[in-house]
Amino acid sequence: MKKIELPVELPKIPPHGRPTVNYENDWSELTYALLVSRLRDIGIEHDASFGSTLFDTAQTGSGKGHIVELGTFSGWGSIHLAAGSKSRNREKVFTIDNYACDWHPFYNETPFWGYGLMAAVKCKMNFKMLGLSDWINMICCSTVDAAEVMDLPVRVLVIDASHDYISVVSDIFSWCPKVIPGGILIIHDWSFPDVRKAMTEYIQDSDEWSDITEISNMVATAVKL
Ligand SMILES: C[S@@+](CC[C@H](N)C(=O)[O-])C[C@H]1O[C@@H](n2cnc3c(N)ncnc32)[C@H](O)[C@@H]1O
Repeated sequence: MKKIELPVELPKIPPHGRPTVNYENDWSELTYALLVSRLRDIGIEHDASFGSTLFDTAQTGSGKGHIVELGTFSGWGSIHLAAGSKSRNREKVFTIDNYACDWHPFYNETPFWGYGLMAAVKCKMNFKMLGLSDWINMICCSTVDAAEVMDLPVRVLVIDASHDYISVVSDIFSWCPKVIPGGILIIHDWSFPDVRKAMTEYIQDSDEWSDITEISNMVATAVKL
């Protein structure tokens, strides 16, 4: 049988024709504005209220503890958290997703987002492209199961997994006790009725949380007492 010779150097094809970037040298200089421009360079859309809240809290939030995001999807939130934290050489990010999502398949057509397990693949590629793979631990698991085995202090908790009432309440009960005093809870899709109801009952009306702030109709934050 004829032996097939491979070319000595295989051509390097950037994923989906996206540019390959290397931001390794200037993390300490990173500001939110600079991150936004880097993301624009590679076609990632901007959401000022959510993005700046994640970045600023990860960068300058008080206390020592882990950063945990419930709901990774294609990594948009994790990127903002990790970039803020990495720019100050602070804690790495744990982001949890079971990738059992039923999001629309058309997400696969975009360079950044994906659908189902393809979201996990694109997520890893997005982290690598932005030089953030070393700052993000992806955990493929249900948020509640992860809470049972992850016994750690949390200084930033982002709740953005399933948005039905029972799921949000389960995430609150599983994860909020791990948040340290002074730690920050960030809630996405705050305008969804089930999310708002769960948060109002268990965060706003709780003695353990203060400074509930509605950043926009999509984002709210609270501080653990
Ligand atoms: C709204 S998306 C997360 C968006 C992400 N934070 C971002 O910034 O792009 C919700 C994600 O949560 C995941 N999810 C939903 N319920 C979950 C659960 N119980 N355990 C783990 N992941 C879950 C879904 O698979 C989906 O990818």
